Amino acid sequence: MKSTNIFETHSRVTKELHAERIGHKGGVLWLTGLSGAGKSTLATELEHRLFHNGYNVYVLDGDNVRHGLSSNLAFSPEDRAENIRRVGEVCGLFADAGFVAIAAFISPYRDDRTIARRASGDSFHEVFVNADLATCEERDTKGLYKRARQGEIPEFTGISAPYEEPLNAELQVDTMNRSVDSCIDTLEDYVEKNFVL
Ligand code: ADX
Repeated sequence: MKSTNIFETHSRVTKELHAERIGHKGGVLWLTGLSGAGKSTLATELEHRLFHNGYNVYVLDGDNVRHGLSSNLAFSPEDRAENIRRVGEVCGLFADAGFVAIAAFISPYRDDRTIARRASGDSFHEVFVNADLATCEERDTKGLYKRARQGEIPEFTGISAPYEEPLNAELQVDTMNRSVDSCIDTLEDYVEKNFVL
């Protein structure tokens, strides 16, 4: 922390009160995986399904956040760490406010994900969106893998920058062998069990 002479204010509306009013717990579903693994697709579909089931839910997505909150950051390890730190903090605020915050970020470094986890404590749920490099490269939905192979995009995750798979994710969804709908069923089931008051 750089600032000094800082005094925290404590809200009289606790996270428990928020949760009680809303009817479910707040928390974070943190989707990590390679570019093209399906994080954004799952986040968007899950948000839609949960919203219509009465949840307070909000998606924070890498490509979007990098247009705003993290528009001054690129893809060096330091910039990714700062991106994930910021988003981890924002997700913690959403969780306190009673939301199911769905984060969809490559978040390739374990240490960065641990820092994000600390920002929301018990209510952080790491989800490994598992599709291997060969599958993501084959899909190449944004055409970025091809460009990365040609050397046009430096520090590209999976090609010229690392991806550290989760060791203790709370949940794993295999998008190589299962349909979007089936993955969403698993995620919805997980939320119903873990965000109940
Ligand atoms: S993270 O590593 O900091 O978590 P984030 O999820 O925000 O990454 O952004 C990833 C998205 O940025 C990818 O889906 C892709 O569209 C785009 N992108 C651009 N350059 C890179 C790169 N060098 N490595 C990975 N993704 C990149």
